[in-house]
Amino acid sequence: MSAFKPLVFSGVQPTGNLHLGNYLGALRKFVALQASHECIYCVVDLHSLTATLVHDDLADQTRQITAAFLAAGIDPNKHIVFNQSRVLQHAELAWIFNCVARIGWMNRMTQFKDKAGKDRENSSLGLLAYPSLMAADILVYRATHVPVGDDQKQHVELTRDIAQKFNNDFSRRIAELGVGVEMMVGEEKVNGFFPLAEPLIEGPATRVMSLRDGSKKMSKSDPSDLSRINLTDDADTIAKKIKKAKTDPEPLPSDVRGLKGRPEAENLVGIYAALAETTAEKVIADFGGSPFSTFKPALADLAVEKLAPMAAEMRRLMADPGHIDVVLREGGARARGLAEATMKTVRDIIGLLQD
Ligand code: TYM
Repeated sequence: MSAFKPLVFSGVQPTGNLHLGNYLGALRKFVALQASHECIYCVVDLHSLTATLVHDDLADQTRQITAAFLAAGIDPNKHIVFNQSRVLQHAELAWIFNCVARIGWMNRMTQFKDKAGKDRENSSLGLLAYPSLMAADILVYRATHVPVGDDQKQHVELTRDIAQKFNNDFSRRIAELGVGVEMMVGEEKVNGFFPLAEPLIEGPATRVMSLRDGSKKMSKSDPSDLSRINLTDDADTIAKKIKKAKTDPEPLPSDVRGLKGRPEAENLVGIYAALAETTAEKVIADFGGSPFSTFKPALADLAVEKLAPMAAEMRRLMADPGHIDVVLREGGARARGLAEATMKTVRDIIGLLQD
């Protein structure tokens, strides 16, 4: 329960090709939410520096993700689409959040542990502070809803912790300035400046797994291209990747509970359900008892039917980078206006002198 204006924010990193997991876990939800909410969608170029500092083609990758947003059906006139680095207020608020958040919170993040691996001391400070910038992305707009895949849930929860600590630490100043919004935190009524943003993680494909290994998530950084379906793959490549997808020798079960303990089968059924906008139960009702030699071609046809038009539209948009740049520039200007309004108040709350 909150009196904050409902606002959706989400971001995607410009690192490597977008894949089916990004589409089903995130992009498709971005598109759907436009009908019911005001939305801000961001290509988080500053975040991508934590993965690759010296990119050969960061500008192009940023345009690619923007093209995917537009091709999937995001309307940059009704909503806001921009790249993060254009709005300096994200980095400003991230610094303040670095002083709010605790190192222990960052050290506990699964993504940090995975990406830093064994040599944590040698990972960049940016990788450790990554969730602070993500919290700033969301809260600089005081956004209330964050559609993401399952892997980002922990980061959105950390965003709530940061908002709550800021609201607590500065409660006296927030009250004095009269800039708080009344909200319930558990049983308690508090007057906070930042909302506790909710992750939106629903549906059959919140965690799409690798086509080569049902225990690993589909990822841009997997060295095997066969592990993922890229949004730019052509029909033949999609069909080939699904044909080669790892499975077990049994036919599909006749009851959805039979998918337990069969991660590859469960993943393919989940992908089918998400693409067909139905449930795993319905897919099993249609394909239960079928061998993969029947199910895989049906899945490939469905994937091509849903993804090919988007790939074609992405190619068309990428042929006119000037248009994409205009979208990002205009979106950036609108985002900056909103972000600066928040930051003016944040500076007052903290006591930073400003014009
Ligand atoms: P990124 O760029 O890794 O992924 C973009 C979105 O795709 C989702 N996703 C998946 N969903 C289902 N199955 C998969 N295998 C899969 N792989 C990726 C991610 O959950 C994400 O929603 N930290 C974020 C970017 C970010 C952000 C933000 C998101 C920066 N600031 C503020 C929301 C709000 C990231 O690295 O996503």
